[in-house]
Amino acid sequence: MRVTEGPFEWPLADEEVRAALDAAFLDGSWGRYHGPHGEGLCDDLKKQFACEHVLLCASGTIGVELALRGCGVEAGDEVVLAGYDFPGNFRAIEAVGARPVLVDVEPERWCLCSQDLSALRRDRVKAVIVSHLHGGLADMPTIMSIARQRGWLVVEDACQQPGATIENKPVGSWGDVGVLSFGGSKLLTAGRGGAVLSHDGHFHQRMKVYAERGNWAFPLSELQAAVLRPQLAKLEDRNSVRAENVATILEACQGLEQWLRPVASRENSWPAYYKLAWSLLPAESDPSIREQLIARLKDAGVPIDAGFRGFTRRSQRRCEQVGAIEGSKKLSQSTLLLHHPVLLANKRAAQQISQVLDHEVRSLAH
Ligand SMILES: Cc1ncc(COP(=O)(O)O)c(C=O)c1O
Repeated sequence: MRVTEGPFEWPLADEEVRAALDAAFLDGSWGRYHGPHGEGLCDDLKKQFACEHVLLCASGTIGVELALRGCGVEAGDEVVLAGYDFPGNFRAIEAVGARPVLVDVEPERWCLCSQDLSALRRDRVKAVIVSHLHGGLADMPTIMSIARQRGWLVVEDACQQPGATIENKPVGSWGDVGVLSFGGSKLLTAGRGGAVLSHDGHFHQRMKVYAERGNWAFPLSELQAAVLRPQLAKLEDRNSVRAENVATILEACQGLEQWLRPVASRENSWPAYYKLAWSLLPAESDPSIREQLIARLKDAGVPIDAGFRGFTRRSQRRCEQVGAIEGSKKLSQSTLLLHHPVLLANKRAAQQISQVLDHEVRSLAH
């Protein structure tokens, strides 16, 4: 049994993207530092993400670092991070000279656990990085209220979920500063790129001062901005198609609960699927099972990979770990991620993916 639909390509051959490239060629902006495309993209992002300020930049990775700098995080400060997250976020904390403090995740949602955050008592914490990962959404209302009480600033990493909402509010606009990625595999792509969103001019100004070095040191080009604008206009529709296909796959995989635990939804929320995550439960105790399953699924045409490695093995020299962070450890060993391009294909592709998953997981178990 194999997936015969596809190939599942990304980026899509979008005529509106081609038209945007033509426009940037014709108006000469392709060769300029600044121009109408970058300015237009900033306006579009402000509207879409309900924020006052947008700083375009070179990647989501540098965006998170800029966000920390915007928050005034410095050497000697501590920054809270989930024990399972994008590796660059750990490095961004180190880059500003601060120390990562690892708390556990909500294992059902792959996101920083608000209860663990609430239990945290540390004097030197300045900020918290919260990422929305793999179709799971963090509990932003609770996290923001904890952060407000303690005087912590929140960097909300929305790189994986542009267009997602929690209580009708765009993900990326909950935190003091929000970060987007326009990397080559992302839902909004310019090959590379990112943006930092903020509501308060102070954060924005600090980031600008840091990056202004006689020229803007981490730029997004006019060409990149041009190709992003038509994609932004289609984001909501595409997110809907992805969500429908996710629903098809999750429904068809209901009989696999013993082996696979899919990412859980959150009330009053609408996720965006850059990846669709499962935890392969037997891999929590034996990680080699995951490698076997991934190899078999890939052979059968399913675009699936392991998740992040997490930070649970990082030495105490580099970070503080609060408690055993068992959930993060388990997710580091057990996460399976289905890549989003299949989720924009037809329903038949989603059905085939489910059938192959069902077949391979059951045969692995026997
Ligand atoms: C959660 C998260 N944050 C940040 C990034 C970094 O984005 P970029 O690849 O644009 O540097 C990624 C990239 O995969 C990510 O998944």
